[in-house]
Amino acid sequence: MKWQRIRYMPCTPLGERAVTGSEQHRALARRAAAEGAVLLKNTNACLPLPAGTRLAVFGKAQLDYIKSGGGSGDVTTAYAHNLMDGLHSKVKEEKIELFEPLCAFYRQQLPQKAAWPGSLPEPELPPELLDEASTFTDTAVIALCRFSGEAGDRSAESFYLSTQEKTLLDQVTRHFARCIVCLNIGGVIDTSEFKNNEKITAVLLAWLGGMEGGMAMADMLCGDACPNGRLTDTFAASLDAYPGMENFLSADDHAAYSEDIYVGYRYFETIPGAAAQVCYPFGFGLSYGAFRIEPQAWSERGTDIELRASVTNYGTHPGRQVVQVYCSAPQGLLGKAARSLVGFAKTRELLPGDREEVTIRFSVCDLASYDDTGKIQKSAYVLEKGDYHFYVGENIREAVLSEFCYHVTEDRIIAQLSPKCVPKKLEKRLRADGEYESLSMTTGDRQPDVEGRDIVPSDGQYPDEQRWHIPYCAWHAPTLPQLSDVWEGKTTLEAFMENLSQEQLVHLLGGQPNRGCANTFGIGNLPIYGIPNAMTADGPAGLRIHPECGVNTTAFPCATLLACTWDPQLLYEIGRAGAEEVRENGLAVWLTPAANIHRNPLCGRNFEYYSEDPLISGRMASAMVRGIQELGIAASLKHFACNNKEGNRRNSDSRVSERALREIYLKGFELCIKEAAPWTVMCSYNLLNGVRVSENRELLTDILREEWKYDGLVITDWYTFGVQYAEISAGADVKMGCGMAEHTMKMLREGKLSPDVVRTSARRVLEMLLRLA
Ligand code: BGC
Repeated sequence: MKWQRIRYMPCTPLGERAVTGSEQHRALARRAAAEGAVLLKNTNACLPLPAGTRLAVFGKAQLDYIKSGGGSGDVTTAYAHNLMDGLHSKVKEEKIELFEPLCAFYRQQLPQKAAWPGSLPEPELPPELLDEASTFTDTAVIALCRFSGEAGDRSAESFYLSTQEKTLLDQVTRHFARCIVCLNIGGVIDTSEFKNNEKITAVLLAWLGGMEGGMAMADMLCGDACPNGRLTDTFAASLDAYPGMENFLSADDHAAYSEDIYVGYRYFETIPGAAAQVCYPFGFGLSYGAFRIEPQAWSERGTDIELRASVTNYGTHPGRQVVQVYCSAPQGLLGKAARSLVGFAKTRELLPGDREEVTIRFSVCDLASYDDTGKIQKSAYVLEKGDYHFYVGENIREAVLSEFCYHVTEDRIIAQLSPKCVPKKLEKRLRADGEYESLSMTTGDRQPDVEGRDIVPSDGQYPDEQRWHIPYCAWHAPTLPQLSDVWEGKTTLEAFMENLSQEQLVHLLGGQPNRGCANTFGIGNLPIYGIPNAMTADGPAGLRIHPECGVNTTAFPCATLLACTWDPQLLYEIGRAGAEEVRENGLAVWLTPAANIHRNPLCGRNFEYYSEDPLISGRMASAMVRGIQELGIAASLKHFACNNKEGNRRNSDSRVSERALREIYLKGFELCIKEAAPWTVMCSYNLLNGVRVSENRELLTDILREEWKYDGLVITDWYTFGVQYAEISAGADVKMGCGMAEHTMKMLREGKLSPDVVRTSARRVLEMLLRLA
């Protein structure tokens, strides 16, 4: 029966053959954790450790492991294997030996219970233990970690090493010839200490590796797996080196995106003087293998450019390599980033001596820039005349200029659009030469709905009318028309909807009570018409079910690690595996992937997001969506858009130019929507250029639906400060976690909300439900 699973969740134990948290999924999580781990340093081939290596392991993070960040990006699991678990398994396999008194010291010193992962204090190391350890071995591992989570940004201090960590590093590096740092972190930290200190011989960036992360770290240390990740963010030496730091933590009511398109590597590689601040550049990552990348042939196919390149592993260990292609566009009148990623491909695992040819294809349209001020043609994507050069290689710095050049003789208009989401309070923006240009601003923030009525925005308070759930549980009445009639082709959706009253339509536009093991509410829920209450569930690192439900799921590595795999096929597999768990638990809408840009290293939720680059973000999100939706589960692409900080996230205004919006902040979403068509999009809490996103018609209707032809369902983030009727008018179909039915009905009666708009949104709810398997 259609929706049997969703309507009659069995709430019984899943049984031995369950896929939820299964061995197979945990193995996938472990494989992924190594695929996205980045080897930052490896002097004299310190890693992998030769068989029989004796190790002394320092740092509380060996036990106080962080599998995923806090909030909706967390996952309830049966366990989370830390580094010590992983290393002890290697001791059992007789691959290494551990200095046990040190392990015992950390076990004793660290309290069993922590307020949150990574929060235990760093114990002070007794000097005798250090001396003893150094007579046992010359090889030390130092484990460090950083936690962050939803609803708060990281402190500036968390970017740097703490005094205790510095002392620890100092003590250890004075006693051991080989010092390997393992980083269990969800966002960028200062790595200059590791890079510049010769006594630190290896650095393994293991991110937040999910429930199997500790095992994967041990696999990599011992050479049972190769760290195959490459950075999808620039690691700079200090916080001040990043643009936009001035007001990131302080200006609570707004964030001025004055760095414009110069975000991440676009800033560091372009702006004079910035390059020197980079510790580890975008795309960087060492390997146990050693690779030679050789471009073989470039060709133009219609509006596409194609590169074939060969990769040879001339090293002594297996590994995978990522071929990265960057474009350097003519500066022209608009100004460009010195390099922009336009394509990439990852090889299979290459054994020593193996060679593989990869093909990378991209459209010349993707090289265009958005002209928001009319220097060439206002509100158009323009391919400025001049030479477009390409750099190919293993990271942004080492990519080599290719002989192929794409020449544009006259400025070419790629797409004529119209002004949308124009900034009202952004005075200046950065140019490629490091100077600022002033921006003309518009005034007024009124916007009309589709019928020309003013959409009156909320006052930025929690709406009084937003009520907690009133369960709607009228019983199944088979005599009334049923939504399954539409599915079975007995009637059309339009005809079916004729049966629903306006009140019932409005009811469909609010989140619905939880059932079964759900904790983030449902969508639908009109049982008398057979409309199921389809449950939503978080999140980007795996299906999140509250602990009290007693269902443990699989915690995959965090999204940033997944992006560092540069392997969309792997994300597809993880999307599919996670969706299997969602389905098995009677849930229907998985609130992932999250494609926000890493604008600032301190954003508390960066671990849930992929990258500072929109191409990577969009490709990874697309792959996840494909994997998820193939199983009849709805993905929810979030948080659309410009939710790039957590401080005051419900009321902070992201002030951003149209160009940066389109080229950077919307690009990944656009890519995912056009490539993978997620069935739902979650709009974000914040304001965008003075208009609350959930009430922002230009974003949610004009751009998303009209320009990008999105035909799915838009839901709000949970309990926005928006008023529901304004949200519906703007194009946010469903208010989550619950609607404001009474108030919305009043607005309908008073003619402030169009009945047609309500009907359209309700239709989208039903269309989404009909897509579910
Ligand atoms: C978060 C979303 C999440 C939702 C449901 C919100 O607070 O911003 O990412 O999906 O809660 O848990």
